[in-house]
Amino acid sequence: MLFKQQALLRQKLIVLGSLAIGSLLYLVARVGSLDRLQPLCPIDSRFGPRSQDEIPLRALQFKRGLLHEFRKGNATKEQIRLHNLVQQLPKAIIIGVRKGGTRALLEMLNLHPSVVKASQEIHFFDNDENYAKGIEWYRKKMPFSYPHQITIEKSPAYFITEEVPERIYKMNSSIKLLIIVREPTTRAISDYTQVLEGKERKNKTYYKFEKLAIDPNTCEVNTKYKAVRTSIYTKHLERWLKYFPIEQFHIVDGDRLITEPLPELQLVEKFLNLPPRISQYNLYFNATRGFYCLRFNIVFNKCLAGSKGRIHPEVDTSVITKLRKFFHPFNQKFYQITGRTFNWP
Ligand code: A3P
Repeated sequence: MLFKQQALLRQKLIVLGSLAIGSLLYLVARVGSLDRLQPLCPIDSRFGPRSQDEIPLRALQFKRGLLHEFRKGNATKEQIRLHNLVQQLPKAIIIGVRKGGTRALLEMLNLHPSVVKASQEIHFFDNDENYAKGIEWYRKKMPFSYPHQITIEKSPAYFITEEVPERIYKMNSSIKLLIIVREPTTRAISDYTQVLEGKERKNKTYYKFEKLAIDPNTCEVNTKYKAVRTSIYTKHLERWLKYFPIEQFHIVDGDRLITEPLPELQLVEKFLNLPPRISQYNLYFNATRGFYCLRFNIVFNKCLAGSKGRIHPEVDTSVITKLRKFFHPFNQKFYQITGRTFNWP
């Protein structure tokens, strides 16, 4: 009797175990097949040929823990050998502009299976101490990737730092450069808001934006104020053009990236010679955040940190008008040079 009961129990356990394994296999296969719905297309040969036996990135992404380790640069020797992983110098850099939407752009491009982002701002070219460590130091800061993928980093300080264009040119004179811009006055206020928040966090007081942006002696726009200077896009771009032809730059509309990201991302895919792989599925509007968030697959999605999308302080309308008037001629020049016109006032 006892023997019979034990046998029955064993049988039940076997059936339950098989069901659990079956369900697990089904789930894995389903996520995998979703990733394979859109086969990886070969990308432009300038980014290197694809190896025959590579694993589609999205399949790997399912193994989030593993990929996270890769991206932190923590792949084991075995993983590096098995997946043929490499740390590559960037083929494209988001050089600015600070508060233009650089983080959103990087994260959204990272949705593309052929793109791997450097998570941190590396500040190699704008920081003398880092630059002195040499190009190998820079490369070692890059995430692990498959050889056919391209690495992208963003350090918005590059755009405004004098020495950077020459230094990047010395590394790779044919690198692709991405600049994301927003309406200059809004960008300057966003820049101010970030600094203000930093001061408040340290319980410090800070000037009002109006006081910094307008010179009290002349009542004119204070061009010594960094947030104003950074928004004079054409001045900075002209320095870059001494080293790189305009064809090597792509200008992203940061205001449009907020409201309608997909068409902006598709333009970048084209510029980078990548097959169009980012779709509306990858981007969903989150009403609570008031921004688009990212969907990598059915199990993994994320919004940008709360430090992106701050509420700006109210600024005196006469100051806004003065700033817009000030930026106007610089904007015209910027449109002329880049061939991209914006609806900035
Ligand atoms: P605000 O904080 O002024 O709204 P950067 O990453 O270069 O610092 O830019 C920050 C800006 O990115 C934010 O400025 C925000 O408006 C913008 N942004 C664009 N797309 C976003 C998104 N999907 N989520 C959050 N912020 C986004």
